[in-house]
Amino acid sequence: MPRPVAEASRRVLVCQGAVCRERGGIEARHEWLLAARGRSLVVVPTACLRFCVQAPVSIVYPDRVWLPRLTGDRVREVLRAMDRGWLENVAGAIVVRSDGGDGPGDNGE
Ligand code: FES
Repeated sequence: MPRPVAEASRRVLVCQGAVCRERGGIEARHEWLLAARGRSLVVVPTACLRFCVQAPVSIVYPDRVWLPRLTGDRVREVLRAMDRGWLENVAGAIVVRSDGGDGPGDNGE
């Protein structure tokens, strides 16, 4: 049974917009869903996050870490980093601080 969002320590937003889906976002979502089993993690599909040039994109909250070009085969790498507290050190990760607006860019440009 899926974990209620309020009980999970982390939420992963996985873009399911057209560009992300075309570039591996469907597989990324599938891998996140498999990874969520037994973890305090909820996977939330989203519409376009306006960062299409870096598709497929996932965002981890409350860490506020954007993960560009996160294909399904990289999800395990991210999970290992997450378990070790190194999420911010994943290659390509962008940390968006609370004063940083809505994200890393308007459609990545
Ligand atoms: S479709 Fe995913 S960022 Fe635009």
